[in-house]
Amino acid sequence: MNSRPLKGRIYQAIRGFEDHLEGELTVRKEVFGPLYYVEDRPGLDGESVFWHNNIWLEPFRAEFDSVAEAASILRGIQRNWAPVLFTLFRRGALIMAKLPSLSEKPRPFPWLLPDALMGAWTLQDAHTLVASPRCSSPFPGGVITFAGDREGPPSRAYLKLWEALVRCRKWPGPGERCLDAGASPGGWTWALARLGAEVLAVDRSPPEGRVLAMPGVSFIRHDAFTLRPEDIGPVDWLFCDVICYPPRLFEWIEKWLRSGFCRNYICTIKMQGPPDPSGPAFETVRRFAAISCSQVVHLYHNKHELTWIKVDSG
Ligand SMILES: C[S@@+](CC[C@H](N)C(=O)[O-])C[C@H]1O[C@@H](n2cnc3c(N)ncnc32)[C@H](O)[C@@H]1O
Repeated sequence: MNSRPLKGRIYQAIRGFEDHLEGELTVRKEVFGPLYYVEDRPGLDGESVFWHNNIWLEPFRAEFDSVAEAASILRGIQRNWAPVLFTLFRRGALIMAKLPSLSEKPRPFPWLLPDALMGAWTLQDAHTLVASPRCSSPFPGGVITFAGDREGPPSRAYLKLWEALVRCRKWPGPGERCLDAGASPGGWTWALARLGAEVLAVDRSPPEGRVLAMPGVSFIRHDAFTLRPEDIGPVDWLFCDVICYPPRLFEWIEKWLRSGFCRNYICTIKMQGPPDPSGPAFETVRRFAAISCSQVVHLYHNKHELTWIKVDSG
């Protein structure tokens, strides 16, 4: 066995948004399947790469002779390994069969994510394994599915909120005050009210009646961005899923941060077209990412949007 660390990181592209990742990674890279390996070097700003669903943080390459040897290399490091195969599927399946299985069951919500590391691996050719024990996403291969509710919520948008909250390992509890901006038709409000939170939904049009009727839900018909923090008062959580130009959202969030009225934020940043590293939307994403103790991610349930998350871990 011949194993070598790779001095860099591997970005796993999101299917359908490969051009976005390529637009961000202007440096030289080695591409295999959905994976983009970029060497660490001065001038590479790895913190400004957002269009991926997982970063392989400690990649290594290992040559192996047999399926058993490949599995033993991985098992010798840790328990959890998610395959990201793009070729040699049969050989990959044989290796998978020799590794501890990962549950593919849809998760309930709330679900407390275990602390154990989730690694990722692929086959570059029949005798070359590329893997990383540590990845940016806690989900296998960046994927999480939920046992959803087909009756209650009026839209499927609640799935991205559930995913963000599971990632944070924290969610609003009974009685906590939540502002849900851009709330209609009411998927997020429904998810929050189910947790027992007090939800103030703000939108230009009302959420569906059955959501409005849930205990703890109230509604203001208003442009969310012309409501100042002092108009609303302290809230435990601020959620925003408004469709708007990113700089408008940033300006509003800055007011909230300055007010000190809220410590937990989950906001979607809606994008238009591929990222233009010199354009205002991309610049705004970078400004969001630079806010202390926060991150910008592309959730598995996000479409053409990113999610900014800032949650008080104290
Ligand atoms: C993607 S939808 C939100 C979906 C919602 N999170 C859910 O779970 O059902 C975006 C919403 O933003 C609202 N919206 C757009 N501009 C707004 C603004 N300036 N203030 C408040 N709401 C706005 C739209 O009316 C629309 O209902």
